[in-house]
Amino acid sequence: MSVPTLAADQSVRAPLPVLGRDVTVPLVTGGEVTYAALDYAASAPALQRVWDDVAAYAPYYGSVHRGAGYLSQLSTDLFENARRTVADFLDCRTGDQVVFTRSTTDSLNLLAAALPDGCEVFVFETEHHASLLPWRDARVTCLDAPRSPRQAVEILERALADRTAAVHEGHGPALVCVTGASNVTGELWPVRELAAAAHAHGARIVLDAAQLAPHHAVSVTGLDVDWVAFSGHKLYAPFGSGVLAGRADWLREAEPYLAGGGASRRVTRREDGGVDVEWHDGAARHEAGSPNVIGAYAIASACKALTEAGFEALAAREERLVRAVREGLADVSEVRFLSLFGDDAPRVGVLSFVVEGWNSSHFAAALSAEYGIGVRDGLFCAHPLVRTLLGGDARAQGECGAPEAGPGEKSLNAIRVSFGAGTPDEHVERFVRAVRELVRDGARWNYRTVDGRCVPDTSA
Ligand SMILES: Cc1ncc(COP(=O)(O)O)c(C=O)c1O
Repeated sequence: MSVPTLAADQSVRAPLPVLGRDVTVPLVTGGEVTYAALDYAASAPALQRVWDDVAAYAPYYGSVHRGAGYLSQLSTDLFENARRTVADFLDCRTGDQVVFTRSTTDSLNLLAAALPDGCEVFVFETEHHASLLPWRDARVTCLDAPRSPRQAVEILERALADRTAAVHEGHGPALVCVTGASNVTGELWPVRELAAAAHAHGARIVLDAAQLAPHHAVSVTGLDVDWVAFSGHKLYAPFGSGVLAGRADWLREAEPYLAGGGASRRVTRREDGGVDVEWHDGAARHEAGSPNVIGAYAIASACKALTEAGFEALAAREERLVRAVREGLADVSEVRFLSLFGDDAPRVGVLSFVVEGWNSSHFAAALSAEYGIGVRDGLFCAHPLVRTLLGGDARAQGECGAPEAGPGEKSLNAIRVSFGAGTPDEHVERFVRAVRELVRDGARWNYRTVDGRCVPDTSA
């Protein structure tokens, strides 16, 4: 079967301009190619528009909040406007708070630190570690991986109903943490239905939108989630900022995430030599220290750029790319895609797979060295999920060279290809062609394991 090229479809937009689109990289076999960045799920390239906005603002950058100078006031306005832009982007409710953090991980750790006493937390084992691990001080119930969106809702309902039944006289606070789109399979989760189930049982819900927000509109109001977290670097704004947005009450009642300037309204020395502090109760309470103004500004720029491009058009184009990967590899029996909800389940531009007879690290190294394609291999910070998908032996590293999975054997880890608004058709076409060639002909170069990673052997 010949590799299909993507049919031109006038209704679907071209990729959005991103930085690095013309960067060339050397091939181990000789020559150079334009780099095909197909690891968007880890970090997406900056949108050109974001870069331009940041560059235009940079000369006007100044200290925010208490600075008396003109540029300080300008920067303070831009910083606070960025907050409003993010609130609009997320379709927040009146009274919701937008806190700028460093990342999704930081946002979820902030929320974890703000849980009311006795709060129980419910997570699926399928979560990224950023959603699975921050709740260590709470009582955590880790739910089984569902095999359909409907089963996800059933599993959650059952767990919450058991909790309600167990706590006869009313029940304490509870939080459900769920991802909107899996960073392993790309599959979309039934967020609205899970939120309804959580609320029906008196629990709250936080949406990990790290993988969802770059691909689909996220409406806090429409989905009826209590909080949402995402990262700038996955949203084409890699300047070190993230967001936690949602209900103000738990955040207001919690101790500040970091203690320091910016979070404190009034600090006084006590007679006994101690220090008293009155904390802010708005977003500033959890933003101690000098905020990352450029990071927040970059996120706001990305929010505007994506909204203007239109998520429907972006998602339609991405679906076409997902189809091109799946159809382009459909007759390669050695390639097995990983999925919880079935191969045809709706997903964002994230697909993980294993190749029979190949070590995933070896395969990914060959894609890079021989084709200039950057993908990712391993367990993707979602160890329990990948173990469930591959079987119990999955581990982060296999030995390069010797195939880890012969016919009928389990793979130890997987390969992930991911893309988004900046991905040209050619990158996906090259990827499909490369996978087919590698499976058919094998690698053209020798590879060896260095520090647990497979790399081209250039010693000869
Ligand atoms: C679903 C999901 N949640 C959370 C995270 C953590 O994001 P960050 O590393 O930006 O904190 C990731 C990162 O890959 C992710 O894919």
